[in-house]
Amino acid sequence: MTERKNVVVGITGGIAAYKMADLVSRLSKNGFNVHVVMTEAATRFIAPLTLRTLSNNPVLTDMFEEYSEWKVQHIGVAEAADIIVIAPATANFLAKMRCGLADDLLSTVVLATRAPVLAAPSMNTNMLDNPVTQDNIKALKDRGILFIEPAEGELACGVSGRGRLPDVDIIYQNISDILNSKKDLQGKTVLITAGPTQEDIDPVRFITNRSTGKMGYALAQEAINRGARVLLVSGPTSLAVPVNAEIYRVRSAVEMNEICIELFDQADIVVATAAVADYRPLSYSDQKIKKKDGDLTLKLARNPDILEGLGQRKKHQILIGFAAETSNLIENARVKMQKKNLDYLVANDLTREGAGFGVETNICSLIFRDGTVKNLPQMSKADVARIIFDSLPAGQVAE
Ligand code: CTP
Repeated sequence: MTERKNVVVGITGGIAAYKMADLVSRLSKNGFNVHVVMTEAATRFIAPLTLRTLSNNPVLTDMFEEYSEWKVQHIGVAEAADIIVIAPATANFLAKMRCGLADDLLSTVVLATRAPVLAAPSMNTNMLDNPVTQDNIKALKDRGILFIEPAEGELACGVSGRGRLPDVDIIYQNISDILNSKKDLQGKTVLITAGPTQEDIDPVRFITNRSTGKMGYALAQEAINRGARVLLVSGPTSLAVPVNAEIYRVRSAVEMNEICIELFDQADIVVATAAVADYRPLSYSDQKIKKKDGDLTLKLARNPDILEGLGQRKKHQILIGFAAETSNLIENARVKMQKKNLDYLVANDLTREGAGFGVETNICSLIFRDGTVKNLPQMSKADVARIIFDSLPAGQVAE
């Protein structure tokens, strides 16, 4: 029998603390050994007795009380943890974590652990948007703390906005993904292109498209979870770069192409999700173009097809492309796969609701070289990312 994983649930003093009863219950029922550590303030929002009953373990609140299970308890809990989840994580607790303060049991445990720490911030929108909180979150992300983004909606203070604790389902899924992630890409380098490109017309204008980069960033996160080294070549996006990804920021297709060619020899797997502009203005005006009466004609030049170029250079690499289609999905995708020398292709039908640009989900078909087609139902981009790497040919992944 595999040993039960130890999940430390750290609860800090926010109204969403009451939702942790549900999370603790879910984790226990699914076979995790749950240890709840609460700050003093958290005990005002939910009774330790509730969590003790649901976790079947003593709830730890006091730095100096003796609990039979642990010798030096903050060290014992910190060492036993396979993951520490801070939910809800208040602005105050994030600030303490950033500074390395250890003035209660939970902050001491967090400081003493080597396990992954996952924080789910939850607070009033203004507190969340305050530059000091944003700065704390950024610094913690840079140090490898994992975050679940706060959700939007009605807040306890009566206003509506960002700052709600995400659904317990989402928190549970994140915990289980981190604990169960396969390490089958250990030793592999994955090159991912993501986001839109911007093709300058003049100093203030450019041509771009509606790509947000979400699919590429989800793939980067998944590859990191599986132990890969990730080279993320990204057009402009507002997304947080996954911790441990090596980011190469570009704007134009030409820049993206140059970096991809430079990095290609290091890559074992390439996934091209970028919505590369197929054309750029033929000439760049270094002065702002002034309006005149009548029409303006813009002459466009073809951009390099980055993926096709990599397909021609391909040696040992596995190449995975995306296709955005609005008609004849499978047929068009097959042609694209041949032309670009791909191993497989992820086709999404932009005409379907819940697929494509700017949305959280995707509806895709995976098309393989031997002609097999795997149709996937509507699912999150993180799940699509998982299936894309699950579909790598044997021999490309570590056992
Ligand atoms: N791609 C690329 N460089 C380009 C254009 C596309 O690397 N200049 C990559 C994309 O990242 C994606 C795939 O090629 O993986 C998409 O191929 P593309 O031929 O552009 O198809 P669509 O945009 O889906 O459709 P269309 O052919 O209609 O433009």
